[in-house]
Amino acid sequence: MTNIIEAVGLTKKYQDGDSTVFALQNVSLKLPEGESMVIIGPSGSGKTTLLQLLGGLEYPSEGTVKVHDKTLNAMDDGSLSAFRNSTIGFVFQFFQLHEYLTAKENIALPLMLAGKGGQEANTRADELLKDMHLEDRSRHIPVQMSGGEMQRVAIARALANHPKIILADEPTGNLDKKNAENVLEIFSHIMKSGVSVVMITHDEGMSKRFTRSLHLDKGKLIS
Ligand SMILES: Nc1ncnc2c1ncn2[C@@H]1O[C@H](COP(=O)(O)OP(=O)(O)O)[C@@H](O)[C@H]1O
Ligand SMILES: [Mg+2]
Repeated sequence: MTNIIEAVGLTKKYQDGDSTVFALQNVSLKLPEGESMVIIGPSGSGKTTLLQLLGGLEYPSEGTVKVHDKTLNAMDDGSLSAFRNSTIGFVFQFFQLHEYLTAKENIALPLMLAGKGGQEANTRADELLKDMHLEDRSRHIPVQMSGGEMQRVAIARALANHPKIILADEPTGNLDKKNAENVLEIFSHIMKSGVSVVMITHDEGMSKRFTRSLHLDKGKLIS
């Protein structure tokens, strides 16, 4: 079976004055294509750092990350951003939508960046708005939407280019219970469609939805 992610010996250190902070220490993992993983651990345990390394948003101090057979460390900034845009979707706790763009424009942006024409981008954005039950929010900008709506726009944006993998950093962390449940249902559908999801959560109860789980503590793997 091919692995969608292979990480070997990932270490990330930050210099804090005279002392070195190890945000992550010697973490290795493999995720077979189509499988999904939850990352669990207390605040400060290195979860976000790990996700950023897996998605090529940060470079490791040591170790390597392969996503879909491409070694991220070996790529220059330009090819890395193009690869990220086509292969990886990101979803964040605080949505990170463009505040001056409408829901539809936020979703169409990664398509335009991938060189798709306006018509193709619009058609795909409309399709995703419909999938997320957001047809009537198409022309709203983020401040005009609820948290649940914003997160659905962010998920639609992450799916726009038909990624192989979605990396989600506490995507329900800023939502009420009902919206959180709704967003998790959407992620369940995404996983069933064959897209791998790696999701960070504080909530142990969430791990039952995933085929694999990884526990971090103080930057180290504990299982
Ligand atoms: N840019 C940074 N500079 C210095 N220290 C950082 C930086 N990013 C993260 N850290 C430190 O690395 C550790 C892990 O952080 P993080 O990955 O955000 O943890 P988590 O997501 O599990 O809460 C923490 O001690 C944090 O303070
Ligand atoms: Mg975090």
